[in-house]
Amino acid sequence: MKKNRFFIAPLLLALGMPAFAQDGGEVNVICSAQADWCNLIQITFAKTRGIKVNMTLKGSGEALAQITAERANPKTDLWFGGTGDPHLLAAEQNLTLEYKSATLPQLHVWAQKQAEQAGYKTVGVYSGPLGFGYNTELLAKKKLPIPKVWADLLKPEYKGEIQVSDPRASGTAYTMIATLVQLMGEDKAFEYLSALHKNISTYPRSGVGPIKAVARGEAALSISFVHDAPGEKAQGFPVDAVTPADGTGAEIGSMSLIKGARNLDNAKKLYEWALTPGAQQFGVTAKQFQLPSNKSTPLDPRIPDFKKIKLIDYDYAKYGQAAVRRQLILNWERKVFNQAK
Ligand code: F6P
Repeated sequence: MKKNRFFIAPLLLALGMPAFAQDGGEVNVICSAQADWCNLIQITFAKTRGIKVNMTLKGSGEALAQITAERANPKTDLWFGGTGDPHLLAAEQNLTLEYKSATLPQLHVWAQKQAEQAGYKTVGVYSGPLGFGYNTELLAKKKLPIPKVWADLLKPEYKGEIQVSDPRASGTAYTMIATLVQLMGEDKAFEYLSALHKNISTYPRSGVGPIKAVARGEAALSISFVHDAPGEKAQGFPVDAVTPADGTGAEIGSMSLIKGARNLDNAKKLYEWALTPGAQQFGVTAKQFQLPSNKSTPLDPRIPDFKKIKLIDYDYAKYGQAAVRRQLILNWERKVFNQAK
């Protein structure tokens, strides 16, 4: 965090933003993106607007749990980032506030659609496809191939070599379950997940945990969002990612204003700012390579090229429903997680 302060002022000037401004007050944010991006938002917004940002970092599932627990007395004003399904669920549960930004027409269709189907109680801020992360050195050393399709992960030679996060806490893992159910049908997807369980070494709570473990050589493979690999690679780790050739799902990372927010005016200012190309560039500055939702945000070549990926037509409205999510996670607990290896 301290490091960010040294490059923030010149960066702001380069982006044509004033280094200091004074709107005053504070805003309480739960951030479900990676820490470096959240910290950059916190510092930049405070410097440009004079609004103090109290930032809590939580995975998508944990953020949803906190916002649900705070329903009667919200302490959070804005929820930034994290997979879109729990944001849709929060909208369905009336935990978030309807708000139609004037910037909506400047966003990609998928980001606008995310807003529309939630009755404007959320909006898309980024998107990214799910795939397989791998440690290039470990795979070569163990003479293991790079998996190409979902079925490859079931091969016995990958036993104990794979990590994926825990869907109770992580939106990444929930996206994986929903993707498999849409690809294979529910019965086959759970057969697949329980066979996969034998090859999984551990289920970390955070969605980026597995790719970080792969980068550091603690696991050979992960099921991760592929946009999380280039940031690890940029730090010098031998890591790469592929998307499965037989199809995959993508998240619509979202942002929601909390119903009953105490600092609503400031939360709206941060919300509006987060939809601008200037603010969305900070993802790449923080080495996060999701596709930004504002069509005018400049694109780094390390952002996955969606045109080259076989994407399923992910049914966000269905998998963002509370009843669907509850049942899938319960099934995963019963049929996969609690099963002996
Ligand atoms: O911050 C990286 C990221 O992969 C985001 O793209 C995504 O929204 C988030 O993590 C999901 O985190 P989790 O799986 O912990 O909910």
